[in-house]
Amino acid sequence: MIDWLVLDREIKIWIQEAGERIRHSLQNKLQISTKSNPNDLVTNVDKDTEQFFIEKIRSTYPGHRILGEEGGGDEITDVRGVIWVIDPIDGTMNFVHMHRNFTISIGVFEDGVGQLGYIYDVIHDELYSAVKGKGALFNDQPIPRLEEVSIEKAIVGMNPIWLTNNRRIEPEYLRRLVKDIRGTRSFGSAALEMGYVACGWMDAYIAMHLSPWDFAAGWVIVEELGGKATKLNGEPLSLLEKSSLFVAKPGLHQVILDNYLQNYVEKN
Ligand code: 2AM
Ligand code: CA
Repeated sequence: MIDWLVLDREIKIWIQEAGERIRHSLQNKLQISTKSNPNDLVTNVDKDTEQFFIEKIRSTYPGHRILGEEGGGDEITDVRGVIWVIDPIDGTMNFVHMHRNFTISIGVFEDGVGQLGYIYDVIHDELYSAVKGKGALFNDQPIPRLEEVSIEKAIVGMNPIWLTNNRRIEPEYLRRLVKDIRGTRSFGSAALEMGYVACGWMDAYIAMHLSPWDFAAGWVIVEELGGKATKLNGEPLSLLEKSSLFVAKPGLHQVILDNYLQNYVEKN
């Protein structure tokens, strides 16, 4: 039996150390390159931070597997055992351009079930965390369970690109939603935006094409608080595939699925 509270204490120490290194790195010139497209950025700090966690995990928990954005971990084709899902910097574009609003995001799963979640806002020194069954914290403060909200009062995080013609979603579905809610926000880090939903500062978050490391931590934290995290068609998320993401408070999740997304079809 794994004592998740022991891991919890250890991971928090590692995250603080990694955060300190990242803050320090901003004093030097970043080495920036691109990945899948000219806007998909990666830096030496993304890679170094992933390596920092991989070394810690390999030496402390040699039986655990690692799914990391920068590819230094394992090839994961099934969810058996303990898997650490790591995004060393979520919001790399913010990291490069703004030097703020980026996070370290770590989810730990056992046999596909989320047990631990951490989203660390490095510049603001703010940690969103959860241990399954033990509640969620913002820094050291317990986060209250999420309450229902009506559509007219909802603030929904999304990237405005999805209101223009694109190959992933019919923009009219989201245009209708945007007209009916109170407001939209876009912060450029999926993990951070899930942290905002966890704390009740946003009521929902929609993204179209994320990888497991973008949502793994937030998935654990939001569900621990009674919120829902699924694909945009309502189907369960998977650690093994990229997908859309729809995170929302209880109640609001079903209202938006039923009234705005009923014709949405997930595309790969
Ligand atoms: P990343 O910074 O770790 O790549 C930006 O709106 C959000 O979408 C970030 O959380 C970003 O994560 C994520 N994202 C996923 N795939 C992306 C891509 N191909 N290009 C840019 N951002 C991407
Ligand atoms: Ca990243």
